[in-house]
Amino acid sequence: MQTNKDIAWMLKDLYDRRDTIPADIFNKTFHDKVALCIPIEKQIADYYASDGECSRHRVDRILAAAVLKKGERVLDLGCGIGTFTFNCAKHTGLCIGLDYSLESLKVAKKINQQFPDSSNGRRYFVCADAASLPFREGSFDKIISADFLEHLTKNQKKSIRQGIGYVLKQAGVFVAYTPNKIFVINQKLNEALRKIFFNDKVSMETVFLTASHIGEITPFQARKLCRDIGFRKINFFYKNDEFYLPFGNRFISRLNFLRVSFESAILKIPFLRDILSANILVVASNKRKYVKH
Ligand SMILES: C[S@@+](CC[C@H](N)C(=O)[O-])C[C@H]1O[C@@H](n2cnc3c(N)ncnc32)[C@H](O)[C@@H]1O
Repeated sequence: MQTNKDIAWMLKDLYDRRDTIPADIFNKTFHDKVALCIPIEKQIADYYASDGECSRHRVDRILAAAVLKKGERVLDLGCGIGTFTFNCAKHTGLCIGLDYSLESLKVAKKINQQFPDSSNGRRYFVCADAASLPFREGSFDKIISADFLEHLTKNQKKSIRQGIGYVLKQAGVFVAYTPNKIFVINQKLNEALRKIFFNDKVSMETVFLTASHIGEITPFQARKLCRDIGFRKINFFYKNDEFYLPFGNRFISRLNFLRVSFESAILKIPFLRDILSANILVVASNKRKYVKH
């Protein structure tokens, strides 16, 4: 089976041309290409299997925060190959996955056809730009956006804010999971220091596979985004093994007892949690009535 390194190589050509392509076009092309490059068995193993590389840490955690109920209508914004569309529909009975990458949606459909059991719920896929959502006002009880916001430019975020406010019911809930920009900056500093002190090189996979992260946000920006949509209740969820450790695995993480105490201490201090957590998981509710600007 292809490794992440093989896939990164297939993306190199596009990556090398990224400065000549507008960011939103680059991202769409990038996601189409990723979907075409990764064999379907690897997609299932990584994203759908409960112990998959990209599902293990995310799906249970995000679904627990979303508290889905039978009969709710859910929108999976930036659904990619449909991991959350599939998992949400199992809990609610209906989920719509939306993505602008047609190639990703073809994979999503293929995989979902492999699980036709009605107890998995109804799953539909829509190819559209999240910046202009093709749904009526108040169509959804919940909107989930997993690893999506970091792919958006400032302008796209503005339009998406409007769209979420419009298509989500007033009593609806918005759940977003996205890398923490502060962590990413810490990580880059860490990589630079490791290069100086240990001559460690950043892997090519990391560079290429995060090339589409053009709009990472901080927890403070995530709060503002939710407020701008009109939410009055905004809660963040943290996990203790997701904190930034200086020098990565080199020192602290080898000394397990020290790592665990370090992480438990961070978990109790709101400011440190915000700046050291690898990911942001935010749940926003109690929305003001939508008013068109
Ligand atoms: C990293 S994938 C995440 C997929 C899925 N949510 C998951 O967590 O497994 C991000 C997805 O967002 C989609 N995306 C990015 N910008 C978009 C936009 N403006 N409209 C629709 N989809 C978009 C990409 O095509 C890609 O499939």
